[in-house]
Amino acid sequence: MTTKIGRNDPCWCNSGRKYKTCHQAFDERIASYAARGHIVPTHDIIKNAKQVEKIKESCKINIAVLDYIEKNIHEGMNTAEIDKIVYDMTTDMGGIPAPLNYEGYPFSVCTSVNDQVCHGFPSEKVILKQGDIINVDCSTILNGYFSDSSRMFEIGEVSAEKKKLVEVTKECVELGLNEVKPWGFLGDMGQAVHDHAFANGYTVVREIGGHGVGLKFHEEPWVGYNSRRGQEMLLVPGMIFTIEPMVNMGKVDIYVDDENDWEVYTADGKPSAQWEIMVLVTEDGAEVLCW
Ligand code: MF3
Ligand code: CO
Repeated sequence: MTTKIGRNDPCWCNSGRKYKTCHQAFDERIASYAARGHIVPTHDIIKNAKQVEKIKESCKINIAVLDYIEKNIHEGMNTAEIDKIVYDMTTDMGGIPAPLNYEGYPFSVCTSVNDQVCHGFPSEKVILKQGDIINVDCSTILNGYFSDSSRMFEIGEVSAEKKKLVEVTKECVELGLNEVKPWGFLGDMGQAVHDHAFANGYTVVREIGGHGVGLKFHEEPWVGYNSRRGQEMLLVPGMIFTIEPMVNMGKVDIYVDDENDWEVYTADGKPSAQWEIMVLVTEDGAEVLCW
């Protein structure tokens, strides 16, 4: 049972303002969507301005680390070196790599090469070679606030078909982002991502999606891409979530390495690509916090 907030009580968002002049109309608007059967966000995933500022500080580290990797990644480098860069840079800037020890994950970053879909383990044995495509997925905790984003990198000259996969996957994220606005739906974004991948002959991994993020590593909502316009959670200002589709060149099926229970591969061995951005729903649209 929840206690109804009085109009003159302090608002739940900790603004210090009275409920009636702060989030009361907002809550009534959300309730009207819920009454029509929509999935709606709970207060605990709606960030206030102070929290957004803290989260943006965390994002700065994540962006700096990925910028550095972008400049320095090269043929002949092994992915354990990327792990060390992420650990050293993140901790030097006062942060903690969020993946490290997360549900037993043993590294600071995920490095997923070619047919690895996600959660690739950095390793001295994985030496980047000409023609590889790699996703580097970086997440940071700073003062208890989380950021999460990932980019694709091409090693030397890659084949035209891999290049196209990487490009189209990035376009999927951009088209999805264009759909993010207050009082829209998560499914507006999901369908845009899916339709563009599908139009290019690709498939979008179903089992693994994006997520709310900021106060925890993974919050509600779960963010899938096999959703339809007008469906899934209502989007309201203050929500933060990732858009991070994994797009397969071939079939949609994936499997998890049964020795480590983490690394995910395409079942057909064809390449997979992923870009991840972290998005804030604002009063009039969306702001990308991290990429
Ligand atoms: N950065 C990944 C994500 O987008 C994190 C996966 S969990 C980890 O959610 F333990 F592998 F980091
Ligand atoms: Co993520």
